Amino acid sequence: MTKYLIGNWKANLDLAEVDAFVAEWQKVAPNLGEEKKMALAVPAIFYTYLYKKSPGFSVALQDISIFGECGTHTGEVTVENLRGIEPEFAVIGHSERRAQFGETNEVIWHKAQNLIRIGCKPIICVDLDQIKEMAHLLEKTPTDQYIIAYEPLDAIGSGNNLSGELLRENMAFLSQIFAPGVAILYGGSVKPENVNEYSGVVDGLLVGGASLKPESWAAIVEKF
Ligand code: PGA
Repeated sequence: MTKYLIGNWKANLDLAEVDAFVAEWQKVAPNLGEEKKMALAVPAIFYTYLYKKSPGFSVALQDISIFGECGTHTGEVTVENLRGIEPEFAVIGHSERRAQFGETNEVIWHKAQNLIRIGCKPIICVDLDQIKEMAHLLEKTPTDQYIIAYEPLDAIGSGNNLSGELLRENMAFLSQIFAPGVAILYGGSVKPENVNEYSGVVDGLLVGGASLKPESWAAIVEKF
């Protein structure tokens, strides 16, 4: 079974800090082996730069336009802009986008379909109150073409990570709602100190703050 380790840099780091991360990463990067897939979702401004640099990790996006074609969409990045530099993964529907940009499940579903069309796996973020509607929208989408990231709002960026025990209970509920075979990740204050709680409970992790430092990110990727 594939294990997904996805970091989300959010709107952090400048170019010098990105370069410093990559230089340090070369020194601390763990061996992923056969089963682990690791990617960092970076601010769009650094995406092509890192993609061309081959930094030793798969470079992912944090969002994509709802518009499926190039054209008159000032400020947007569409899937057609990604021709030739398609990412393997893109995070969509993060709670910050839902709260700060009013994104609904329906908007997020459209973005997912755009990404799937270019062969990119959307990592669709949801909290418990969004899962039924999202699962319904995804009913006709093949389960190997997308990934769900369960991110309890209170656990994000707060230090209040969900215990492994509670996550196990909630996963039983989630896997009843989503179609069998969908990979489900957990996100919310994952750190090297608590990562062991989640191995064997979920298919992977979505990590914010702790993915910004090569050492902590390497420890998480190694331990999971
Ligand atoms: P965090 O962020 O790891 O900093 O809590 C998780 C996320 O927002 O995806």
